[in-house]
Amino acid sequence: MKILGIESSCDETAAAVVEDGRKVLSSVVATQVMEHRQYGGVVPEIASRRHAENIVPVVRKSLSDCNLTLDDIDAIAVTYAPGLIGALLVGVNFAKGLSLASGKPLVPTHHLRSHIASNYISNQELKPPFLCLVVSGGHSHIVMVEDYTKMKILGRTRDDAAGEAFDKAARTMGMPYPGGIELDKVAENGNPLAFKLPRPVVHDAPYDFSFSGLKTAVINLIHNASQKGEELNKADICASFRYAVVDCLTTNFLKAAEDYKVNKLVIAGGVSANSLLRSTLQNECKQRGYEFYMPDKSLCGDNAAMVGSQGYYEFLSGNTADSSLNAFATMSIEL
Ligand code: KG4
Ligand code: ZN
Repeated sequence: MKILGIESSCDETAAAVVEDGRKVLSSVVATQVMEHRQYGGVVPEIASRRHAENIVPVVRKSLSDCNLTLDDIDAIAVTYAPGLIGALLVGVNFAKGLSLASGKPLVPTHHLRSHIASNYISNQELKPPFLCLVVSGGHSHIVMVEDYTKMKILGRTRDDAAGEAFDKAARTMGMPYPGGIELDKVAENGNPLAFKLPRPVVHDAPYDFSFSGLKTAVINLIHNASQKGEELNKADICASFRYAVVDCLTTNFLKAAEDYKVNKLVIAGGVSANSLLRSTLQNECKQRGYEFYMPDKSLCGDNAAMVGSQGYYEFLSGNTADSSLNAFATMSIEL
């Protein structure tokens, strides 16, 4: 079964063709990141306009890249939540039009579920149940993936998402948006123990995260030094901050795995590209005898191949929509 996936929840317009949830026949991503960079973050109005311009050529290219036409497609899966509402509406309305015109089923797909599905492409043998750490620019969740379309949130962030914390810390150090990627690179040459940063915990909620205090601590560290005219080693700040974030994420994730007696662990979302997060969990899981899976780095960020994958499982579970489908800025992964 061939699914056309469409993604427009933030600043990437993407389309892909995926067979049986696992095989990527084509994947096209048009990113707007350079345009938003000059504003230090995504400007929703600009994002919507660019999606409107890009969606037709991107979908056309996804079909021509694998020598298919719409006739060869069995269903159209589209990200309908969560995300920037104006951005989502472009993809949703385009997919609705395509579905109406072609008579192909329309499959509404949750963005974070799709991030998890990127693992089905990178790890062909992976099947639920497993425990997943979903870490992106907007979310930080520990999710029990009971089945492809049945999930339960065990923990979540109380304030900033992990990616947001990375981006804000990076911005304070003058790195361009989205700074998480560069912060990760610079951290490779620093000492993670150079600066002592807090490890915030949420009382009575052992799997929840809180990153705003950690973010403020690193921002204060930088500002206080600059007021005194001191120059701090940037690589050391990056390494210490990255170590603190990864420590918080992995501590709670591993605790949840232990408490719920799960020995199959998975990571997903933009922050799952983080080198320290990947290596730390790889080592910790090896020591504990757990299975550990992560997406290929090329599939960690927003793309439509993951939408085509999750869309397949949503379709199999009977999740289809008609032309009354709407987009939603927020929606739980549990649905
Ligand atoms: O999943 P994603 O592409 O978009 C959302 O759905 O939010 O995640 C984007 C986030 C950004 O905050 C970006 O800085 C972060 O993922 N990110 C990273 C790395 N690569 C991307 N954060 C830390 N280390 C990385 N290597
Ligand atoms: Zn995303």
